[in-house]
Amino acid sequence: MESAVKRIGVLTSGGDAPGMNAAIRAVARTASKLGIECVGIRRGWAGLINGDIMMMEHGSVSHIINRGGTMLYTARSDEFRTEEGLKKAAATCKLLGLDGIVAIGGDGTFRGARELSQYGVAVVGVPGTIDNDIVCTDYTIGFDTAANTAIDCIDRLRDTMQSHERCSVVEVMGRHAGYLALYVGMAVGATAVLVPEEEYDFKNNVAEKIRRARLSGKTNFMIVVAEGAASAVDVGKQINDELGLDPRVTILGHIQRGGVPTAKDRVMATRMGYEAVCALAAGKTNRVICSNDDKIYDVDIEEGLAMKKTLNPEEYEVMGVMSGI
Ligand code: F6P
Repeated sequence: MESAVKRIGVLTSGGDAPGMNAAIRAVARTASKLGIECVGIRRGWAGLINGDIMMMEHGSVSHIINRGGTMLYTARSDEFRTEEGLKKAAATCKLLGLDGIVAIGGDGTFRGARELSQYGVAVVGVPGTIDNDIVCTDYTIGFDTAANTAIDCIDRLRDTMQSHERCSVVEVMGRHAGYLALYVGMAVGATAVLVPEEEYDFKNNVAEKIRRARLSGKTNFMIVVAEGAASAVDVGKQINDELGLDPRVTILGHIQRGGVPTAKDRVMATRMGYEAVCALAAGKTNRVICSNDDKIYDVDIEEGLAMKKTLNPEEYEVMGVMSGI
């Protein structure tokens, strides 16, 4: 049956994540297959307010599946949070004849999507953030690439820390969530991982773990700190003050957001982008695409925003066992 949806927009908003380009490609190509016109909106919600657009066809998304970042650019828009901004964005949708929007981003993007849908615009969100902090989905696009980039950096750090018998404190991104830090910490065999979901306890979570590692014969230590848990600089100072070690501190920062997307990110982004267009074509609105148990499906946007995502307790416990506590 032919869809009543004739033209949709696609945008990326918030922090970019590797795999966003693959999602844009999937949206444009699925739309093309379904006979739906696709308009690329540059610079996220700000671009929707300003009518910053480009037409997208099957060919306009060639050679991007392997590229990090987002060809549509991204932004965080304060104006979009205001009633006036939302009205302007809704007016752009009306002017362009957009029947729906696919918004690729994190929870901030979905909050924007929910607000815009109050103005009669159909919106479907696709989770794209290295933080993996969206509650309704096990996976968010960009997480795997960011984790592998961080792991690669930490493996390099380990070589020099081992040679000098030093302690390394590495800060990884994740905003208010410890997902990335815990995953990376487990993969690099960290001495300790600090996450915002657990209360900061230097004595038990850092000092005691370093002490145990030293007692077991180790002479180099890797402390992974989620940016939302503490400042790596402060942790390094405390290690120096209280344990007499002379740690080196590294903040991985935006390095983690760039680079060639992994196979997992490309495939998940493609499947999610496809599903988002199918949802809009079926007349759905206010939905978020999720992945759980390797199934891709859509849920009400409220479900995605309702709760704070918690860490997998099993993963946290295993990490504790590996670091000797
Ligand atoms: O949400 C993705 C993220 O990379 C977070 O991990 C980080 O806290 C934040 O964005 C950084 O934002 P910005 O790029 O605006 O500095």
